[in-house]
Amino acid sequence: MQATEFRDHFPVFSDSVHLCSCSEGALSDRVMVAMSEFMTSWRIHGAPWQYWMSEVDRARLAFAQLIHADPKDVATVSCASEGAFQVVSAQSFIGSKKVILTNDLEFPSVAHVWLAAESRGASVQFISDKRGLVQTEQYLDQINDEVALVSTPLVSYANGLRLSVREIAEKAHRHGARVIVDAYQGAGVVPIDVEDLDCDYLVAGTLKYLLGAPGIAFLWVRPELEQPIDPVLTGWFGRKEPFAFTPRVLDYAENARRFQTGTPAIPAAFAASAGLSLINETNTDEVFSHVSQLAQILQDNLVDADMALYSPTDPQQRGPQVAVLTDNADHLAEFLEQRRIFVSPRGKAIRISLHYYNNKADLDQVLAGLVEYQRLFPGRIANTRPDS
Ligand SMILES: Cc1ncc(COP(=O)(O)O)c(C=O)c1O
Repeated sequence: MQATEFRDHFPVFSDSVHLCSCSEGALSDRVMVAMSEFMTSWRIHGAPWQYWMSEVDRARLAFAQLIHADPKDVATVSCASEGAFQVVSAQSFIGSKKVILTNDLEFPSVAHVWLAAESRGASVQFISDKRGLVQTEQYLDQINDEVALVSTPLVSYANGLRLSVREIAEKAHRHGARVIVDAYQGAGVVPIDVEDLDCDYLVAGTLKYLLGAPGIAFLWVRPELEQPIDPVLTGWFGRKEPFAFTPRVLDYAENARRFQTGTPAIPAAFAASAGLSLINETNTDEVFSHVSQLAQILQDNLVDADMALYSPTDPQQRGPQVAVLTDNADHLAEFLEQRRIFVSPRGKAIRISLHYYNNKADLDQVLAGLVEYQRLFPGRIANTRPDS
């Protein structure tokens, strides 16, 4: 599917400019239909569990297809934090091998799961960012035999920094560490092949660039990994045969489903499979190239307008967003929203995020809004990078 046809699936563009996929993807016609199918099936059939579970499997299959994995290696979880928790609960932190290595641009709730594992013997080391950048070399320098788990986002939520996962994973594996990737801010726009990434776990929620709704996330687990420790959270969907109904038998599924817990969020699964169906009708290389071109144009225009960026300027390090530094991100986002331009305020920047549905006209509109803001509120948009 080409970009213009893709855009036609999103009614929001008839009256608004959606540039906040890093926060919530735009609502498509397919998701609206899927959500109403869920309600209709409930109204007409009472308890169509088989149909609903098949929709969960459809979403799992679509996600597996997107990341070039086998659906049996994908667990459904409620959110990325739950996926991260399940992973860390299945690690042992014994002897000196107890370090979880992460960085300051990791999404907080994932980092918080790592910190909470300190009560089980883990020791978390944060790699500091320098002006919004974390270099692959910083990871490589800190990976040694004491590291048990290396955690890196594929793309940082904070400013779209894209890390070189493969290089990090290669060194981690040489030192016997496992690697988890939070792909939430990339999946749907950055091509993902779990074999190429060489990671051991990959987690992603569906509500951002995957164009679904809140409530469901996926956890991919490398099939050949040994699983000596069972995950702490469990429930009937983690069993070998969930529908065997044997309360006295706690048998963990052999595959990724061992990380599952209870009943999945069915409405979110309907939305996820509809959103993913659109993504899987695109060519991901083409999507990323479209998004990267837009990011470059936007970046150039912002720099020309003397606006300081918090996002990386090197295309090799840049994900699908361009972030603009400002002293009051909420105020600026509100100003743009009054003009029906949706961006996402986060900390010291507004994040302008790009998907296959965005086009050059969207960029012109957001730039015009930012220039107007600059004129009305001089000095509020930074024109130099701060020191930290
Ligand atoms: C990179 C990243 N990871 C995780 C999350 C969310 O985590 P959870 O699904 O646990 O709410 C977000 C954003 O909401 C994110 O941007």
